[in-house]
Amino acid sequence: MEKVFETINIEDLKSNMNMPKTVKIFDTTLRDGEQAPGISLTVDDKINIAKRLDTLGVDTIEIGFPVSSEGEKEAARRAADLGFNATLCGLARTKEKDINAVINCNLPYVHTFIATSPLHRQYKLKKSREEVISTAVGAVEYAKDHGLKVEFSAEDATRTELDFLLELYKEVENAGADVINVPDTVGILVPPTTEKLIQEIKSNINVPVSLHFHNDFGLAVANSIVGIEQGASQVHCTINGIGERGGNASLEELAVSLKVAYNMDLSIDTTQLYDICNFVGYLTGIKIPPNKPVIGENAFAHEAGIHVDGILKNAMTYEPISPEVVGHKRRIALGKHTGHAAIKSKLDKLDIELTEKQLCDVYNQVKALGDKGKKVSDIELQSIAISELSTGEKEYIKLLGLNVITGESVSATATVKLEIEGEEYETAEIGVGPVDAAVNAIKELVNEIVEIKLEEYRLEAVTGGTDALAETFVMISDDDGNQATGRYTNDDVIISSVVAVLNSINKILAIRELESKHEN
Ligand code: KIV
Ligand code: ZN
Repeated sequence: MEKVFETINIEDLKSNMNMPKTVKIFDTTLRDGEQAPGISLTVDDKINIAKRLDTLGVDTIEIGFPVSSEGEKEAARRAADLGFNATLCGLARTKEKDINAVINCNLPYVHTFIATSPLHRQYKLKKSREEVISTAVGAVEYAKDHGLKVEFSAEDATRTELDFLLELYKEVENAGADVINVPDTVGILVPPTTEKLIQEIKSNINVPVSLHFHNDFGLAVANSIVGIEQGASQVHCTINGIGERGGNASLEELAVSLKVAYNMDLSIDTTQLYDICNFVGYLTGIKIPPNKPVIGENAFAHEAGIHVDGILKNAMTYEPISPEVVGHKRRIALGKHTGHAAIKSKLDKLDIELTEKQLCDVYNQVKALGDKGKKVSDIELQSIAISELSTGEKEYIKLLGLNVITGESVSATATVKLEIEGEEYETAEIGVGPVDAAVNAIKELVNEIVEIKLEEYRLEAVTGGTDALAETFVMISDDDGNQATGRYTNDDVIISSVVAVLNSINKILAIRELESKHEN
């Protein structure tokens, strides 16, 4: 993993922490992640995601909640048959039938939970503290007696009285629990409360402490890291941070922070993150926001002129890590903030060489499109640049104005104003459509100096959408048999057509001037 430039060395700070050398990644994408509103995965989807999680290198996959449905059971059984490196775990309430469902699916590991906060005890469970403890202890003993690895969760732990929480954890530890999990069920922790809570739990409990933090205030990853600094040796997380409400701690953000910022040795192959996150985004239908850290489409995209200039000189100027670290790609976006350097670099990659003036024209066109709210893709830039290349160097004829009127059951009318050899001319013509009318008006205006015939006309949308750029290609001939092509790209089809025709006429006029020079 590459090194982040630091002025403060994390290793110097670790002496004040109780940080373990490594942390186990307990992935709950297929359980808590799937509980997010709107997500419903088929058994095949779950198996395909589980395979990717295994290849990614997570330590544990919480495959589901077997007692809850036949589909959940089938997914758990099928996953158990696949012989993953990751350990498979199933969720269970502190009820024998839930634990039996985990056993019957051949899962070696149960994550059993009971709610512990006063709110849940009073309104949901209607159980006293003592009843909660005896139910939890009974479930842990039952699961241990059936040979399972047992992780115990106190649901809503972070709103539970601390003395009671510590007592309960001690009892389940004594009953044989292998891991004590701390769910921040409604995401109310902040870093200092996390620090204190995990310190308290760590000084009372001997088995590994695990974290399960929700993201209601956007702090799940930060809190998880604070919990790890205080000695938690396992963290629950989900791909893309999906989960109930605001979701869970995001696996990709945690993995990169722990590896890059804390130099931690994790089992995760970060180069697979971009792919797996997109795969899960696709199957769950939960779109990844472009600004999602680490794997969002903008995570390594640059548009602003100063940033692009820096990136082209040394990518570390505006990136904390290389995109390759997470299997992503750097993208230079073109829009209203684009500078010359970005355009030049893209054109170099496309092997398109422009003069300074042509580059300026392309830059102005990209900016103008950006001002209209449009982003210019690589293919659109290529088209704009090729249009520019096919524009004659000398402009004998310039477009000064264009107005078209068109509609149903009326002839299209175009008024065109041109500058021809320094003089202004204007005329209006009709046609079968607005492009035809405009071309007729141009022909009429240039008739004095050259008689042209449109041999070929092609119009293509460069990209999809009603605001797509239109590329026009034309070939014209004059009465001497000279031929010239013209090309132009614009977000307005009529302007694209008119400028392409004018470009071709300018080329014909250049040819004629050259010929007459040779004749004299
Ligand atoms: O958030 C939570 O409390 C849970 C439990 C099932 C552990 O997901
Ligand atoms: Zn949860």
